[in-house]
Amino acid sequence: MRLRAPLPGWRAQADVVVIGSGVAGLTTALQIRAHNLSVLLVTKSSIDAGSTKWAQGGIAAALGPGDSPSQHEEDTLVAGAGLCDLAAVKVLVSEGPEAVRKLIARGAVFDKSETGEIALTREGGHLRNRILHAGGDATGAEVSRALLAAVSDDLGIEVIEHALVLDVLKSSSGRVCGVTLHVIGEGSRDGVGEVLAKAVVLATGGLGQVYSQTTNPSVSTGDGVALALRAGAEVSDVEFIQFHPTVLYIGEGSKGQQPLISEALRGEGAFLVNNRGERFMRDVHKLADLAPRDIVAKEISRQMEITQSQHVWLDARGMKEFSERFPTIYASCKEIGIDPANDLIPVSPASHYASGGVRTDLNGHSSVAGLYAVGETACTGAHGANRLASNSLLEGLVFGARIAEDIAANQLPQEQPVAQDSYDFLLSPSIRGELQRAMSKGAGVVRSEASLKETLKTLERLKGAATIYASVDAWETTNLYLLATAIARSALERRESRGSHYRQDYPESSNAWLKRITQKLASDGSWSSTITEVNSDLTIVK
Ligand code: SIN
Repeated sequence: MRLRAPLPGWRAQADVVVIGSGVAGLTTALQIRAHNLSVLLVTKSSIDAGSTKWAQGGIAAALGPGDSPSQHEEDTLVAGAGLCDLAAVKVLVSEGPEAVRKLIARGAVFDKSETGEIALTREGGHLRNRILHAGGDATGAEVSRALLAAVSDDLGIEVIEHALVLDVLKSSSGRVCGVTLHVIGEGSRDGVGEVLAKAVVLATGGLGQVYSQTTNPSVSTGDGVALALRAGAEVSDVEFIQFHPTVLYIGEGSKGQQPLISEALRGEGAFLVNNRGERFMRDVHKLADLAPRDIVAKEISRQMEITQSQHVWLDARGMKEFSERFPTIYASCKEIGIDPANDLIPVSPASHYASGGVRTDLNGHSSVAGLYAVGETACTGAHGANRLASNSLLEGLVFGARIAEDIAANQLPQEQPVAQDSYDFLLSPSIRGELQRAMSKGAGVVRSEASLKETLKTLERLKGAATIYASVDAWETTNLYLLATAIARSALERRESRGSHYRQDYPESSNAWLKRITQKLASDGSWSSTITEVNSDLTIVK
């Protein structure tokens, strides 16, 4: 199964192609360069357009006095609700502090306390202050700035912007040996081209645009996960879509990217109230407003239902120096006429993070030889059923570096592509809105067999909207379609509630479901799924 694309008009070659320019892709590229291999970095929009720069809260790492990787591990496992891969969590928390120090060495500047130490704050699910932040609530922007500066100083990294990667190239042995991509620009690299490489690293970020409202930017259409599915790779845990509890409510019917209201506000004293002015989280969880975010998102949805309201409220009126500590959030509030010092902030949940993705081992290998995945695109198993706040930038740093080391340590062959046995598949962009609405309605914060079957029925109908006109919008829509199908299929299969997957018809967690659902797409477009033990090993197909 491949996206329909015109024949390639140009060819290029590099040791490694990295797709995506967020923290995961940039870290991988820089670390590969430490081993003198050439890198082609491909990004769909401009190089700074991905999700990373939108991250507010920060990076979690056990750097504070009295903290330790094992305490960070404990909090990560609790949030992951029984589905974390223990080895992946141990790698994340134990290699995290060093990865953060390396990021600082690469130029990232984090906020300091009055004593000159790095200031650490708290977010939901953390029992300690361990979140580094920068520019108040502009952590992602600073991380992105520092890594982009390092990349632009490195002549061994060629960057192609405005290029959508369509599919992988494979050799006769089935090994991935490059990609086809479409450059929407000017110059010799315009149009569809082929890039040969010894390894392809997918770091395309999230898939939040599968839903009508999301914290993710418009580029987050899950291109890497969809590409991996078409390449025959295994995709796991995709039913676990994390809804951020507090996104600024900007009005009925608002669509696309919504302004995030960081959990760090609640970490520093803000609290939620319903439409009747009642605090509701204290009765729900011992951590109250700082409960893991699936619990907060679910309770907000319940409160919205009980009070027949489109949102609840965040009370941050008691917080000092709001505009200095949270300048981005302050600006978003002011834009809709809210002054956080005097007004309650209207908030509701929106899709935020995919805890699952392309299934990988601890060195980022997918199940297809030569194809790696990292960051939100990957499913290392470190997040389980629900990612702990601020573990995502950390995951990009830690596993990006591991992939680079793996590629450098193995003399990977450059194989030659052969024609693939596959059929073309392309959907009209006109179905995008209906697809998103069907996902928000039937496969959102609260799901049931009936709602998921309805969503799958809609998706099946939308599949009829094929097009022969290849365009970025059509390619993205086709990717969203594949991801929506994978999410709804897994969510229907998992007959329990766990982490960020809540089934109204199966409201309890079941030990029988301490298992991972993995899906694959065959070249004829048919799906298969397998259910495995959480800590089972990945088999790489060569
Ligand atoms: C936030 O700042 O609330 C988001 C942090 C995250 O998603 O890790």
